[in-house]
Amino acid sequence: MNGDRVKIGIEGLDQMMGGGLIPGTICAIIGTYGTGKTTFALQFIWEGLKNGEKTIYISLEEAEDRLYLYMKQKNWDITPYKDSALTVIKLDPSDFNLAINRIKNELPTLVRELGATRVVIDPVSLFEDLFERASDRRREMFRFVEALREQHCTIVITSETDKDNPFSSRHNLIEYLADTVILLRYVRPSDLTDVHLALEVVKMRLSAHSREIKPYEIQQDQVLVYTEANVF
Ligand SMILES: Nc1ncnc2c1ncn2[C@@H]1O[C@H](COP(=O)(O)OP(=O)(O)O)[C@@H](O)[C@H]1O
Ligand SMILES: [Mg+2]
Repeated sequence: MNGDRVKIGIEGLDQMMGGGLIPGTICAIIGTYGTGKTTFALQFIWEGLKNGEKTIYISLEEAEDRLYLYMKQKNWDITPYKDSALTVIKLDPSDFNLAINRIKNELPTLVRELGATRVVIDPVSLFEDLFERASDRRREMFRFVEALREQHCTIVITSETDKDNPFSSRHNLIEYLADTVILLRYVRPSDLTDVHLALEVVKMRLSAHSREIKPYEIQQDQVLVYTEANVF
């Protein structure tokens, strides 16, 4: 069954999802700052590039150069893929409304034209913040996600957690729209000597998945999920 899965490229995590994401589905990676959302998203892109796929990275936060630098630090040679198999689009926050409208209107076409099979939006929270009314946000996000879904690519969307609730995204919306939800968080043992990172697959439509909470570590060149270990 694993052959028809879209791997994120983080072995333990792919294992927890029965081999990877289901093609054409949307995965939300939710976590607070520093939990590794961008790292996971880049890993997903790199996995696609290695397979000869076309990819698009929409960055709402990190500059294009920084993303390239991260990849270089990981010893990934992306030179052959730049501007061909890898298209990075950085949205300029100073002209945010315009940029976001462009993405909303043009991304589905771009995906089709490039033949992209993997798309990242990192982080979508800034997009969601633009709407003042919850009902507008819900409607617009639903439309945006559905338009993307129609392109049949596999999508990873990252989202910041709510400042008061480390289990939910800021607007508590993307976890409903996404087919798969991966939650990243800090775990602080009671003695407060050390902070660990832990992940769980909260939801996965159309698939069995692990419900365990597993520790992970961001290393220079990879993310290690300790599938044999327990957090609690
Ligand atoms: N090369 C590296 N070696 C070790 N840890 C790293 C490396 N790069 C990033 N990290 C860790 O990952 C964290 C940032 O991850 P990032 O993917 O940017 O998180 P997020 O997007 O959720 O804010 C850093 O705070 C650091 O702890
Ligand atoms: Mg980030």
